[in-house]
Amino acid sequence: MSTSLAGLRIVVSAGPTYEDIDPVRFIGNRSSGKMGFAIAAAAAQRGAQVRLIAGPVHQPTPRDVQRTDVRSAAQMHAAVLSALPADVYIGAAAVADFTPRSFAGSKIKKQPGEEGLTLQLVRTRDILADVAAHPQRPRLVLGFAAETDEVERYARGKLERKRVDLIAANRVGVEGSGFESDDNALQLFWPGGERALGPASKQVLADALLDLIGERLAAMTPLASPRTDQT
Ligand code: PMT
Repeated sequence: MSTSLAGLRIVVSAGPTYEDIDPVRFIGNRSSGKMGFAIAAAAAQRGAQVRLIAGPVHQPTPRDVQRTDVRSAAQMHAAVLSALPADVYIGAAAVADFTPRSFAGSKIKKQPGEEGLTLQLVRTRDILADVAAHPQRPRLVLGFAAETDEVERYARGKLERKRVDLIAANRVGVEGSGFESDDNALQLFWPGGERALGPASKQVLADALLDLIGERLAAMTPLASPRTDQT
């Protein structure tokens, strides 16, 4: 039987972000939103109060899920932080790491004789790290790690650097897992533990991930110790 999440407030981010270059061009990525939407749907089915912050995707809103659509990393940052306080944050979105330094108000034109174009990019703010460092930090913060190689090493690095409680690593750039695919395989890492899930459909993985989240929440020290009456 699956763990009930009734009463928990869960914020999930999903999909890509689009970083606009000019009115017709943007920098994006291959995220379809399937993984994050499957998690949001499964959490709502278990009774959680789910806020889904979605980048530009073509996915129907899961039942009983409150959805906010955003486009850019900056908009996703603002939407996620304004969804706090929450009990759990799950960062399944593929947020752009870089965005153009400036937006060209009209379409960038090719200049005669110009063989290349250099775009200046600047780092975006790290939503996951900011949630983990927030004064209203959720009890459990889960990040994803999308890696083409050295999956475990990079995932463990993100667990420490971003100060999160759980990292769900997946291999990307191969068929049958990661971006766009209906299936995936996850390697979960937390301080002192790890677990492999799948390969399986993203729906099956979402359920298994929520079971693990239920276990980790149960294993955490309660925020306040029970009050003892003193005479
Ligand atoms: O959407 P699908 O097609 O179903 O594909 C699913 C997925 C591959 C997108 C998903 O499983 C996944 O791996 N999501 C995270 C993708 C990613 O951006 O990974 P990353 O290793 O670059 O980032 C690590 C973590 O930091 C992620 O939780 C990401 O949401 C977060 N991050 C990154 C940059 C940033 N500016 N802010 C962030 O919060």
